[in-house]
Amino acid sequence: MEKQQAEKHIKELRERLEEYGHHYYVLDKPLVSDAEYDALMQELLKLEEEHPEFFSEDSPTVRVGGEPLPYFEKVEHRIPMLSLGNAFSDTDLRDFDRRVKQLVGGDVSYSCELKIDGLAVSLTYENGRFVRGATRGDGTVGEDITANLKTIPTIPLRLSEPVTIEVRGEAYMPKGSFEALNQVKEQAGEEKFANPRNAAAGSLRQLNPKLAAKRNLSIFVYAIGHIEGKEIDSHLKGLAYLHELGFRVNNESKHCSDIDEVIAYTEEWVEKRASLPYDIDGIVIKVDRLDQQKEMGFTAKSPRWATAFKFPAEEVVTKLIDIELSIGRTGVVTPTAILSPVTVAGTTVKRASLHNEDLIREKDLKLGDSVVIKKAGDIIPEVVNVLAELRDGSERDFKMPTHCPACESELVRLEGEVALRCINPQCPAQIREGLIHFVSRNAMNIDGLGEKVISQLFEHDLVRDVADIYKLKRDELLQLERMGEKSVDNLLEAIEKTKDNSLERLLFGLGIRFVGAKAAKTLAMEFDTIYKLKDASEEELVAVNEIGEKMAASIHRYFSTQKVVELIEELDSLGVNLVYKGPKAPEESDMTDSPFAGKTVVLTGKLEQMTRGEAKEKIESLGGKVTGSVSKKTDLVIAGEEAGSKRTKAEELNIEIWDEAKLVEVVSERR
Ligand code: IVH
Repeated sequence: MEKQQAEKHIKELRERLEEYGHHYYVLDKPLVSDAEYDALMQELLKLEEEHPEFFSEDSPTVRVGGEPLPYFEKVEHRIPMLSLGNAFSDTDLRDFDRRVKQLVGGDVSYSCELKIDGLAVSLTYENGRFVRGATRGDGTVGEDITANLKTIPTIPLRLSEPVTIEVRGEAYMPKGSFEALNQVKEQAGEEKFANPRNAAAGSLRQLNPKLAAKRNLSIFVYAIGHIEGKEIDSHLKGLAYLHELGFRVNNESKHCSDIDEVIAYTEEWVEKRASLPYDIDGIVIKVDRLDQQKEMGFTAKSPRWATAFKFPAEEVVTKLIDIELSIGRTGVVTPTAILSPVTVAGTTVKRASLHNEDLIREKDLKLGDSVVIKKAGDIIPEVVNVLAELRDGSERDFKMPTHCPACESELVRLEGEVALRCINPQCPAQIREGLIHFVSRNAMNIDGLGEKVISQLFEHDLVRDVADIYKLKRDELLQLERMGEKSVDNLLEAIEKTKDNSLERLLFGLGIRFVGAKAAKTLAMEFDTIYKLKDASEEELVAVNEIGEKMAASIHRYFSTQKVVELIEELDSLGVNLVYKGPKAPEESDMTDSPFAGKTVVLTGKLEQMTRGEAKEKIESLGGKVTGSVSKKTDLVIAGEEAGSKRTKAEELNIEIWDEAKLVEVVSERR
């Protein structure tokens, strides 16, 4: 083909594909068959490959994803991306209406929209061309995720008018794509995403756009952040204009003339939300007239002219099939409801903890009952109540056993405790749980040694105590099911590596009562070696900051057991490190230049690039102290995704807040 002809043809193909794509994805009204679309796309890909000189940033072929990035650049938002105040009830909505009317003169009407549960993004277009897309980040500075956003077919690469505009919207993963993705993950033995929002966030925050392209993400655009040379007088007109420009705008938005209509809209969607093909977590209510919005302005965190009505936690009815007992590491017996599987707030629920026997009695649960389930904080499944009126007489009473289901010794209720306990130290269920705890992330953190493998090793009598883990032999492991040469070698290597762990991991892993990860660290730092700790008196222990009497007594009791003394000697002879290797307490350390030195830091929200435990470890190794709650004493808050009340409190107290990206940046600079 002649060069000129090729150029013309490429241009035509791009225009046609763009139009077809817009009709298919945004308007949901395909003009051609999928096969025809695919054939044209292939033709364009081929021509572009033959004529790289005609490359264009906004060709529809960029949707397949570009080259992986080394990291995401930071982008400062021209106008901050704020959050919204919340309303949880009709009363809250009426209060909002009252506040609005106090602040503006004239008639007020509202725009009501679905609050899409995804990830806020900002999209910038210059002269009608998509030039930059960013995450919200901390509201002021986000990350440049243009390459990933370009792969989303509902984000136009070119607009119908050559405008310069910044728009905001919610990128999300449709429920169907989420289910399909998790199915693939499950088949591949990979960890599944907890919900569509996490899946969307994970997809957009990974550095390889080709992978993002495979994730079937979409977007609804809901606001204009900034526009040049165009006057718009109402929010709903703004949405209509965005639609004209080629953006996908949710079409359930409604104009409401008063707060009663707003309330009716929220009630309607409480009922209808489950039938949508995407998750919503509330309704956004905005004053419609833009001059009134301007008059009302913003607080430090959010606009005064808008609020988010949050849905009550979704409740569903299912059957209580059985109640299973599990024995924890410390012998506590926990009853768990086995439920007929149901979808609640986006994921399938099959089990829910019932905490203790009293709760079963209080709720009057019988096996075979219809029960109402919800997720507390939209995460942890919980049985709300029983629907006794639905009983047909076939339900059976549940009787708490008197003996441990694992070792058959008698269960006891210790004074002042609600829980039943198995107090047999040889109870296999407790030993197994203790081993699982020992290898877990915050303890020895042995890669590839999770609950399943521990159970296997335990059943085959290969491990009885934690020292046995360090005695495992290659040929023994090879006998086990699903254990090939490669996995055995990897496992042995992972185990070997943890012999060098600093003492606090072992201390926490031993599962001494009342000694959590934090206390383990304090003890390790203070006593330096396990031998010194073992020989410490109760008085010496209590003298340590943050170690109370109960914990001191427990530690002392633990180390006076002959079996424990033998275990330590055994670990020592197996080459397991028994010494603290981290930095000294901040006041002794030479870390005055560390941004965390002597600072009290609180971690909140979901971190994506490291676990909370890892973040804590890093901050502590740089001289910071990590605490659980925000107070006046807090110097810094690290807020991940979905940070809630702690973040709000930090804002109220004017405490410095970092997002995860900043933490990663600072930590990696100091590695
Ligand atoms: S308007 C000044 N409209 O909800 C903030 N937000 O806390 C204006 N969201 O992270 C936000 N759907 O990403 C607005 N139809 C909608 C929305 C929506 C979802 C998200 C948004 C933001 C959060 C607000």
